[in-house]
Amino acid sequence: MKFFNMKNEIVRCKCVDMSVDGHGIARTGDLVVFVKGMIKEEEADVKIISEKKNYSYGIIHEMIKVSPYRRQSDCPIAYKCGGCDLRHIEYDYQLQLKKDILINTFKGYEVNDIIPCDDPYYYRNKVQIPVRDHKMGFYRKFSNDIVEFDDCLIESKDANMIITDLKEMMINQPYENKIRHVLIKKARGTGEIMLAFIVRDMNIDLSDLVDHLIKKYPDIRSVILNLNDKETNVILGSEEKLLYGEKYIIDIFDGIRVKLSLKSFYQVNYHQMMKLYAKIKELSGVKDTDEILDLYCGIGTISLYMSRFTKHVTGVEIVKDAIDNAKDNAEMNGIENADFVLADASKDMDEYLKGKDLVILDPPRKGISKELIQSLIDQNVPKIVYVSCNPATLARDLELLKEDYDISEIHPVDMFPYTVHTECVTSLKRKTK
Ligand SMILES: C[S@@+](CC[C@H](N)C(=O)[O-])C[C@H]1O[C@@H](n2cnc3c(N)ncnc32)[C@H](O)[C@@H]1O
Repeated sequence: MKFFNMKNEIVRCKCVDMSVDGHGIARTGDLVVFVKGMIKEEEADVKIISEKKNYSYGIIHEMIKVSPYRRQSDCPIAYKCGGCDLRHIEYDYQLQLKKDILINTFKGYEVNDIIPCDDPYYYRNKVQIPVRDHKMGFYRKFSNDIVEFDDCLIESKDANMIITDLKEMMINQPYENKIRHVLIKKARGTGEIMLAFIVRDMNIDLSDLVDHLIKKYPDIRSVILNLNDKETNVILGSEEKLLYGEKYIIDIFDGIRVKLSLKSFYQVNYHQMMKLYAKIKELSGVKDTDEILDLYCGIGTISLYMSRFTKHVTGVEIVKDAIDNAKDNAEMNGIENADFVLADASKDMDEYLKGKDLVILDPPRKGISKELIQSLIDQNVPKIVYVSCNPATLARDLELLKEDYDISEIHPVDMFPYTVHTECVTSLKRKTK
C-alpha cells in the first residue's frame, strides 16, 4: 500500500525499532516513519515532514505512550549538533537498543552484551571546534551553521573551559577570520593537553592569547599552529609551527607511556580503550611464541600492549607522525620486540602477513580492502582479531572472510556513550579444510 501527499498530516504511530542513526522506526499500518527522538515501544501522534518512495520522516506532535526509559535530555543542543542522538534515553537502555541494532547488522552471529562505560560523561579525549561567523561551536547536523555550547557533556571539562575562554578572547578579534578550527586533545593518564589552531594564514600573532592560556592551564604542554588553506572537508593541513612546548603530549595507559602528535589517532575514550585492549588480548589467545602483525596501528598502542605477552609485534600505519610516535613509544618504554613500518595496509601486505600467527586489524570506518582480505586468505593467516568502529563495514568484511574463517561472537564496547556509535571486536580462526 502506498501513501501519497501526507506531508503535514498527523498520524498515530507505534515505534517498533531504532535505526542505526538513532531515529525511532514508527509504523502505522503499512506506513513506516522515521521519527527523531522516539523510543522503541512508544506511541505518538507524529507529523509527517517529508516523504520518500517507501517511507517518511516525521516529528513527534504529541506523545501518547511514553517509554519508561525516557529521561529529560540534559543537553540543550543535543539534537542540533548531532553528536548525542540518545541523550533522551536512560544509559542502560541505550546499551540494549544499541545491542538490538547490532543484532540486526550481524545476522547469523552471536552478539554479546555491550561492555558499558563506567562514567559516560566528559569522556572524549579530542574535540575539534569550527570557528565561523563570530561563533565557535559544533556544526549543526547536515549544515555549516554553528551551534554554540557552554558545557558539552561528552568533551573533556578542560576542553569546555578552554573553549569558553577562547570564545571570549578570540571572537571579534581582527585575526578571527584566519582561524578555521581549534583542536584540543587531553591525555587522561597524565592530564597533559594539546591545543592547535588550524588557520588559513600562518601570518597570525596569537602570542598574548597563548601566554594567557598556558598560565591559566599549566597542563597545556603543546600549542601548534597548523596551516590549512585548502577548501576541503579535511581539517588538518600539512604545515605546522610550534607555538609552545613540544609537538606532542604524553599519555600513560596500563603502565605504558605514549607520545601523541597532532595528526596521530588516539582512541577517544581512555577508560574504554583499556577494556577494548583487554578484550583484544582475551580474544587473541596470544602465546609467548607468537609473531603478531598489528595493521592500522596508529601510535602503536595495541602493538606495545600486546608485546608484553608475545615474541614479536610489527605495527603498520599510513600516517608518518603516528608511526614516528610509535617508534619513539617503543623506545621510551624499553620495548625491544616491537617494530613499526610506514605503509598502506590496504595493499601489498603479502610479505608482512607471511608466517604471522596472529593479525590484528583496526581500520578506520571504511573497513579493510578486498585486496587485504584476499591476502589474509592467501597467506593462510591462522588467527585474526578484527576491531571496528563501524559495524556496517565489519559485517561486510566478515561476509567475505566467513568461507575461510570461523568467526566468534561479536563483542561490542561502548566507546561512545550517548551517541549511536559502538566499537566491536571479533576473532576469526582459520578453518581446517
Ligand atoms: C581506528 S584507528 C586505530 C589505531 C590504533 N589501532 C589504536 O588503537 O589507537 C585506524 C588507524 O588506521 C590508520 N590508517 C588509515 N588508513 C590506513 C591505511 N590504508 N594503511 C595503514 N593505516 C591506515 C589511521 O591513520 C589510524 O591511525
